[in-house]
Amino acid sequence: MLTIGVDIGGTKVAAGVVDDDGEIVEHTLRPTAADRPEVVAETVADVVRELSKGRQVEAVGVGAAGFVDETRSMVRFAPNLAWREEPLQKKISGLVGLPVVIENDANAMAWGETRFGAGRGQSHVVCVTLGTGIGGGLVFDGALYRGRWGMGAELGHMQVVPGGRLCGCGNVGCWEQYASGQALVKEARQIAEAQPERAEILLGLADGKIEGEEVTEAARLGDDASLAAFGNLADWLGQGMADLAGVLDPGCFIVGGGVSRAADLFIDRARDTFAERLTGHGHRPLAEVKLAELGASAGVVGAADLARRR
Ligand code: BGC
Ligand code: NA
Ligand code: ZN
Repeated sequence: MLTIGVDIGGTKVAAGVVDDDGEIVEHTLRPTAADRPEVVAETVADVVRELSKGRQVEAVGVGAAGFVDETRSMVRFAPNLAWREEPLQKKISGLVGLPVVIENDANAMAWGETRFGAGRGQSHVVCVTLGTGIGGGLVFDGALYRGRWGMGAELGHMQVVPGGRLCGCGNVGCWEQYASGQALVKEARQIAEAQPERAEILLGLADGKIEGEEVTEAARLGDDASLAAFGNLADWLGQGMADLAGVLDPGCFIVGGGVSRAADLFIDRARDTFAERLTGHGHRPLAEVKLAELGASAGVVGAADLARRR
């Protein structure tokens, strides 16, 4: 059976036709108009039409970066996008005439990784995706944990710093303000402004505007400010995983999302911090901290498989 998986990100809509083995048969990409939800539904319908040409497609799964309701049809809230009470399922199915399942983007990724990627064979998986924000996905005993109202596993909005940085969700001090791609850039910019002598390589590369790519490249070239920003991200990630392990006791963490492409710059230190800060460490097994294996297609593959099992 073929289903289509769609991953709606802040900058692009990625989609693929996926078979029963989680293999992508055909793939396509479109830019997202993140600030205009009505256009997003049309973009999704457009890729679905393109991908189903000449094929029998049974259903569509859509991963969206927000709080999806328990019927998996509505994006009720999205901290980093313009969606509020957005009836995405109704709009898309109306346009394409196929069954549509909406899922939180990180849940879809966690499902894809657990079924077909780094979490295969694992019974207790906590997935953490580091992108613009931090997404979370929990897969226990082969089932995606959604909570009572579909809004479980919003790991990025644990409030880790009282009175801390303002978050897109409206609260302050959320984890995603300290360990996401956005946080990395913010931190590097702050250091570069306050102590430019530590950021000569970064400032040279950035040419006025510091973004994630430059911070990564500068860190690889030994830039002190960029390395410090990655170091902070590593510690916040390790600390967060320690707290999560205290609550959930998983067998493994899977770290994914765009920032994980630079994992060589933070993952070892995150593992060390995790091991150090885990309550009762030395007297309990240590969960493995793995990197996502499916890369950018985890969300597409996961959403397609969830649609298959709808
Ligand atoms: C949102 C989540 C989303 C995550 C990753 C967070 O800010 O609250 O719903 O999964 O970002 O996109
Ligand atoms: Na989630
Ligand atoms: Zn928040």
